[in-house]
Amino acid sequence: MKQIKAHIAVSLDGFIATSDNELEWLPNEIKSILNNQYAIADSLLMGANTYHYIFDHWGGWPYTNKQTFVVSHHNTNVTPNCNVRFLINGQFEEINKLKHKTDLLVVGGGILITTLIKAKLIDNITIYTIPKLLGKGIKLFQETPELNLKFMESNSLECGIVYSRYNL
Ligand SMILES: NC(=O)c1ccc[n+]([C@@H]2O[C@H](COP(=O)([O-])OP(=O)(O)OC[C@H]3O[C@@H](n4cnc5c(N)ncnc54)[C@H](OP(=O)(O)O)[C@@H]3O)[C@@H](O)[C@H]2O)c1
Repeated sequence: MKQIKAHIAVSLDGFIATSDNELEWLPNEIKSILNNQYAIADSLLMGANTYHYIFDHWGGWPYTNKQTFVVSHHNTNVTPNCNVRFLINGQFEEINKLKHKTDLLVVGGGILITTLIKAKLIDNITIYTIPKLLGKGIKLFQETPELNLKFMESNSLECGIVYSRYNL
């Protein structure tokens, strides 16, 4: 069985983006670490909001050489012929099937990560904590049942970012 893992940056107060979906507050160090994780991943998995954010803000689709799966209730694919496939029916069954074939890196966002955790479909999550308070914004975690995660490792970067990996 392959693995589904997530790498995500979060403010100290638990937000992955500002209320208007901006990521400009993320330090360059973390942007390049995350971009490297996306580049070395076998396949990418993301929620529809993250997919549209990337398309709208990064000037087109940056991952044409990599299979990307987008979870949604609707097919709003604006990048045909770019290796992007929408999972719009039986999403968890589809993801479970994919897990037999390929490692998947979850790009985000919070809604998708929370549903994957609830469906027990995510193996581990690495959280990069940025020492910044946003005050409000898009949350990393939505409501979940009480759940214990297994702490695996933690480290820090010179710029003050602490990152920790947990298994589920
Ligand atoms: N800080 C970081 O490292 C980081 C990383 C990635 C993204 N982001 C930011 O996070 C924000 C987006 O996060 P988000 O939490 O709002 O949204 P998201 O998780 O990217 O997408 C949520 C959408 O995905 C679909 N979805 C998720 N789970 C589903 C399921 N189980 N079944 C069917 N559809 C499902 C739904 O789409 P439909 O409504 O279309 O059905 C849902 O509205 C953006 O601002 C992005 O820039 C930050």
